[in-house]
Amino acid sequence: MATLKLTIVVLISGHGSNLQAIIDEIDKDLPIQISAVISDQANAYGLTRARQAGIKTTVVPAQDYPNRQAYDQALLTTIKQYQPELIVLSGFMRILGEVIIYHYTGKIINIHPSLLPKFKGLHTYVQAIAAQEKHHGSSVHFVTAELDSGPIIAQSTLDILADDSAETLKQRTQSLEHQLYPQVLRWFAENSLHLSAEGIYKDNQLLTGPISFTPKVNL
Ligand code: GRF
Repeated sequence: MATLKLTIVVLISGHGSNLQAIIDEIDKDLPIQISAVISDQANAYGLTRARQAGIKTTVVPAQDYPNRQAYDQALLTTIKQYQPELIVLSGFMRILGEVIIYHYTGKIINIHPSLLPKFKGLHTYVQAIAAQEKHHGSSVHFVTAELDSGPIIAQSTLDILADDSAETLKQRTQSLEHQLYPQVLRWFAENSLHLSAEGIYKDNQLLTGPISFTPKVNL
């Protein structure tokens, strides 16, 4: 019997290594269908990855619209066309407008390269090293109107090494991400994760904190 697949759209702006990790898991056994990859950047390498995997791509460039409201409306119209059950932000470098967030409440997730609530926004590796943190990592969270502040679903953690640069820390953190994001998507596909007014439910249990996920990678 064919398994029902969760339909998602993935929003990217750049390299798309997390998108690739999701595609690779789908090729194995992740029961997900990517109905489109949408980018604000026509030259995002992630679009090439999507095309190579036979996934539809659409570019919605910011410069084609007179203001943010018009852009967000166009992006919403584009997303709706692909009827996603979940919107997956994967290195999408724009803040989503409220018109999209409220249309898809509880249906948008993002991956952010820090142990939220620490180090929101950009340059998280530089920030973590400068703050002399002992640990860093990545978080997958629901998207709300406040940047990088929605309920956190899961996190993966690593040690910051004495000789880490922002670049080496980024490489190791992204290795974590490439297992963390597909795992969270698997939970959605299995219908075991839900956002409610009280918080996040996993397997019908209210989470009291982010799920700690330890990937099998050598760091
Ligand atoms: C990831 O590190 C993710 O945490 C952040 O943007 C980066 C995107 O990388 N939001 P890629 O485009 O998936 O390679």
